[in-house]
Amino acid sequence: MNELTVALGARSYPVWIGAGLIDDSPRWRAAIRGRHVLIVSNTTVAPLYLARVRAGLEGFLVDTHLIGDGESEKTFANVGEVLASLARLGATRDACIIALGGGVVGDLAGFAASCWMRGIDFIQMPTTLLAMVDSSVGGKTGVNLPEGKNLVGAFHQPRAVVADIDTLASLPDREYRAGLAEIVKGAAIGDAGFFAWLEDHADALEAREPTLLVEAIARKCAYKAGVVSRDETEQGERALLNLGHTFGHALETAGHYTTFLHGEAVAVGMVLAARLSERMGMAGSEDTARLSALLQRLGLPIAMPGGSDPDELLRLMRLDKKNTAGVLKLILWRGIGRAEIAPGVAEQDVLAVLGN
Ligand code: NAD
Ligand code: GLY
Repeated sequence: MNELTVALGARSYPVWIGAGLIDDSPRWRAAIRGRHVLIVSNTTVAPLYLARVRAGLEGFLVDTHLIGDGESEKTFANVGEVLASLARLGATRDACIIALGGGVVGDLAGFAASCWMRGIDFIQMPTTLLAMVDSSVGGKTGVNLPEGKNLVGAFHQPRAVVADIDTLASLPDREYRAGLAEIVKGAAIGDAGFFAWLEDHADALEAREPTLLVEAIARKCAYKAGVVSRDETEQGERALLNLGHTFGHALETAGHYTTFLHGEAVAVGMVLAARLSERMGMAGSEDTARLSALLQRLGLPIAMPGGSDPDELLRLMRLDKKNTAGVLKLILWRGIGRAEIAPGVAEQDVLAVLGN
């Protein structure tokens, strides 16, 4: 078991990573302050793990709220339904939500927790690799609108993160690899030593070797926890966590969210960002080559789908939240472990990278 802390003064919280943690209820029950607990999960995850979470909650007033599976469930309407479940439970201000599932459940349940009585506690119990290494840590919560992804939300930090790696045994291969992309991202942004470690252990990680997996998750979470501690609300440094995202979001949108999983789009986006950095004279080609090779070894895509339209992708990239009027702001790098914010990127350079 590995434990680290997201240091935010009085709102600091532990991230526990290891095998069998769901059954170790004395550990995570201590984070619950009141009597009411609402477990939010989805129809895929609940049959696998809900009973074990409930078994650990003897003595509390517990109810369960399930949503359907998929990104399309991350809606305002479902937040309203979670709030209605809290009302039925009679949840008081010291109530706690437990988010049991992937990033969709975690983002939605966390947002509901931020709204009920202007903010109650919640515990993240991530069950996808992506949620363990990214979405469950850092307090970004929210939902999608028909107009766009993650447009509504709140910064609301959990009381604890309980990452039980045993739950990954049932995770489909493609979802697992998408999580690996987010681990590579953390190393690519700010930790060259971790990147080299990933290169050394890529085969074991691909095979889901538990000891190495715990170490990889812990190193990524520790990196993210440090960034969040220094810049909780993304006034500066936290934007670096979006390496590959401007390209990636454009690819996801162009593919109507069916071509790539988010982590896959980020993998391709990171390679495009590396190539753009090369073109702008910021980094050498050997760094792009190492990044592409590692992603490929982990079974991730590194190229845009055939038939991608550069002009369409550039149009989508102009909508990114980081941009200011008329100017593209991207996260690029000076090489492995040295990402930085590039505030004024010329559109012809982006088009050149998208065009070949
Ligand atoms: P997801 O929640 O949709 O889960 C992926 C799939 O795996 C789903 O079908 C789910 O039912 C299934 N699943 C989950 N756990 C399982 C298990 N243990 N065994 C079998 N199946 C399981 O997707 P995700 O990749 O976990 O998260 C993506 C979401 O996270 C997006 O909405 C994205 O915007 C959000 N996100 C948020 C942050 C943040 O900082 N808050 C960061 C990154 C991503
Ligand atoms: N996933 C980016 C962030 O948490 O800031």
